[in-house]
Amino acid sequence: MGRIGLLLALLSSTAFAQAPSEFATCVACHGAQAQGIEAMNAPQLAGQNADYLVRQLQGFKTNTRNSADDAIAATMQPMAAMLTEAQMQNLANYLSQLPPQPTTKAASGDANRGYKYYQGSCGACHGPKAEGNPMLHAPNLAILSPAYLTRQYQQFADKKRGFHADDKYGRQMQFMSSALPDEQTIADVVAFIQSQGVQE
Ligand code: HEC
Ligand code: HEC
Repeated sequence: MGRIGLLLALLSSTAFAQAPSEFATCVACHGAQAQGIEAMNAPQLAGQNADYLVRQLQGFKTNTRNSADDAIAATMQPMAAMLTEAQMQNLANYLSQLPPQPTTKAASGDANRGYKYYQGSCGACHGPKAEGNPMLHAPNLAILSPAYLTRQYQQFADKKRGFHADDKYGRQMQFMSSALPDEQTIADVVAFIQSQGVQE
């Protein structure tokens, strides 16, 4: 096999793996490449850590990820409820291997100022480039859009995520969600995280 043949064989075994049939249900909200759709509030899943994805699906299914009054997250409950453990794992493996796409640009943040706060309060778990750390169960943040990041951080801060006794890792993050002093700093940290993602 020549170099090109080897490359194609590698690509077809990873990035172009066959989508599990359940993925068809996800496309309307998360996009055909799992790149996320802002208008649906649905985050990018492509390139996210597989164990993290499985844990979120389990959390939606068992109503432990979000408070009951979170109407946006509530749309995920029936989606996760119809999946078996094996289907979750299968979907997560597929999604984690898809190449992430660029997200929309942060509107108002100062990435240089955000860098300092990020490295001081977030990087130890989420990694110096916001790439995530599977050993610490911390997801990749660099693939996520500014709007989604801001909303999730706020949900943790408001104890609408990471409050449930069974949500061990969500609780760790909930504990960290008072680290940033004000909205401007959150916007700055989000701008830094965004700068670490795939650029157009
Ligand atoms: C009706 C729209 C809709 C459909 C269909 C849908 N999702 Fe979602 N999904 C969402 C929304 C909205 C969120 C964001 C929830 C939040 O803000 O907490 C989300 C979040 C998620 C998350 C959490 C990601 C993270 O970073 O924490 C996972 C995992 C997920 N979806 C997987 C799937 C899978 C797999 C399917 C198909 C079986 C699917 N979704 C179908 C709307 C949808
Ligand atoms: C002690 C380790 C730790 C620190 C420090 C930490 N996080 Fe997290 N973070 C986590 C874990 C673990 C999760 C996954 C929670 C879960 O499974 O629901 C998470 C989840 C998140 C999510 C949700 C991502 C998604 O896909 O929905 C966001 C956003 C986030 N963290 C932002 C931050 C920011 C911003 C900081 C710094 C102010 C920070 N984190 C500091 C451990 C940490």
